[in-house]
Amino acid sequence: MPAAIADVFTYGKSYIQALPRYIPGKPASSVAQQYGFAESEVLKLASNENPLGIPGSAQQAMLNLAAQASGCYPEPEAAPLKARLAERFGVPQSWITVGNGSSEILELAARAFAGQGDSIVMSEYAFALYSLYTSAVGATPVVIPARDFGHDLEAMLAAIDKTTKLIYIANPNNPTGTFIEPDEIEYFLSRVPKEVVVLLDEAYAEYLPDALQTDSAALLERHRNLILLRTFSKAYGLAGLRVGYSMAQPELTQILNQVRSAFNTNSFAQVAALAALSDEEFVRCTRDLNDRGREQLYHGFDLLALPYLRSAGNFVLVHVGDGERISEELLKRAVIVRPVSSYGLKAWVRISVGLPEQNERLLEALSSSLHSAAAYRQ
Ligand SMILES: Cc1ncc(COP(=O)(O)O)c(C=O)c1O
Repeated sequence: MPAAIADVFTYGKSYIQALPRYIPGKPASSVAQQYGFAESEVLKLASNENPLGIPGSAQQAMLNLAAQASGCYPEPEAAPLKARLAERFGVPQSWITVGNGSSEILELAARAFAGQGDSIVMSEYAFALYSLYTSAVGATPVVIPARDFGHDLEAMLAAIDKTTKLIYIANPNNPTGTFIEPDEIEYFLSRVPKEVVVLLDEAYAEYLPDALQTDSAALLERHRNLILLRTFSKAYGLAGLRVGYSMAQPELTQILNQVRSAFNTNSFAQVAALAALSDEEFVRCTRDLNDRGREQLYHGFDLLALPYLRSAGNFVLVHVGDGERISEELLKRAVIVRPVSSYGLKAWVRISVGLPEQNERLLEALSSSLHSAAAYRQ
């Protein structure tokens, strides 16, 4: 085919072709292969996963399901899971949307509320998928400079104009671990115009102390433009199953479900989430382990004289000088962390909190990586 004709066939919209790709944490299998380790030797602290793994209750629920697997489609509305969530949060079932991971709901919101000519407001250093999903629907991400590494809510409010359809807020935020107090959120919500939807992403909410937990039902009653987002990937240990959920008043929930595909969560994810939700002991252990692990990391970073941000999540952002270089050195020692240069945080890496012995191993590997990098520079 002559080149001139071939050029006519360019696939995909130009703004889609220009999209950057989301870079997930490297899988242990590929690091093992690349660096010649056994996969079991590789320590992955790069994706904020739960170091306790899947709760036994969820595993058992999946085994039970496997024994009677029917070949039928999953429950299209995840109704049993919604019923349990409704009970837990004291909201009607019709306020809940279940997604293939909470990231699916982030995407549904962008698709449902924004398009070309619209804009979505978010903070600098906020979760990377916000701007990707915004651009993917042809809308403009309006990225507001961070204040002390967290959301500058006043500046976000000031950025709202007639093109603004949605605001994404991560609380706690990933990758910085910053946290906005509930009364600040409430004050912010009271001033956002009601025609602008606010999606409050609480992926790490279960790691917060009880006193800082959102009273979701009360907040949703007061703000009909609010979507609260949660996930089973972190404190519930189900990252591999892909299940998250949102709560919002029916008007918004119906719109989200309008763009949701019918069988978006599979049967195993649904039964696992249902079991994990009732497993309060697992979540309590997760939170205790995380509290202790974060302190262990802070202490280790203090000894290494590395600045870090105190985190409200299950990860810590630490200043290592050259994040890409140190991440590479850590890979040579079979430890995976997350460089965050794609966020504009070139000097930092994000490290997920592991089990005590994993944190210890990370700190040792980090110390030797810093020495190697310093020797290399001299
Ligand atoms: C702030 C935030 N929101 C949403 C997600 C998406 O999680 P998932 O799709 O696994 O529910 C993540 C994952 O790391 C996150 O950090």
